[in-house]
Amino acid sequence: MTTRDRLTIRLTVNGEAHTVEISSNLMLVDLVRERLNLQGTRVACDQGACGACTVLVDGRPITACLSFAFTADGAAVLTIEGVAGSDNTLDTVQLAFHDSGVPQCGFCTPGMVLLAKAYYMQQPMPEGADVERWLDANICRCSGYQVFRRALHSTPPREDAP
Ligand code: FES
Ligand code: FES
Repeated sequence: MTTRDRLTIRLTVNGEAHTVEISSNLMLVDLVRERLNLQGTRVACDQGACGACTVLVDGRPITACLSFAFTADGAAVLTIEGVAGSDNTLDTVQLAFHDSGVPQCGFCTPGMVLLAKAYYMQQPMPEGADVERWLDANICRCSGYQVFRRALHSTPPREDAP
């Protein structure tokens, strides 16, 4: 932090290092969408209630509309743009969503993919982990939950979690 209202943070986003000067009240969702132009992260409720803005910060799902950008200083952030491989090969979660016919509404889906990814990145998987309860954190406004559940149950746990 250099002044009371401005600070410089360093973070990686989708594996790319960034050093950015920000205002202390900038939200993480605005950092990724407006400053880094990664607009796959959605803003829907803007109140921390729906999960559309979910990103992973050091592997943990975070509602980016409620998180100050400075809290990601030094962290590794993953947005939906970074989920597929560099050669655009789909991640196992994305493949499961695709194969299960998950709706592609564009609002909830990026957050759902990242929420599911965080679930399968848990190493070791906590005892009693329940993917359906995990899914409850995010809202699908058109109520396509059964399809999401099918996709999550069909996704194999990942062994290459960072
Ligand atoms: S837009 Fe962030 S939780 Fe809904
Ligand atoms: S599929 Fe996105 S809101 Fe239902």
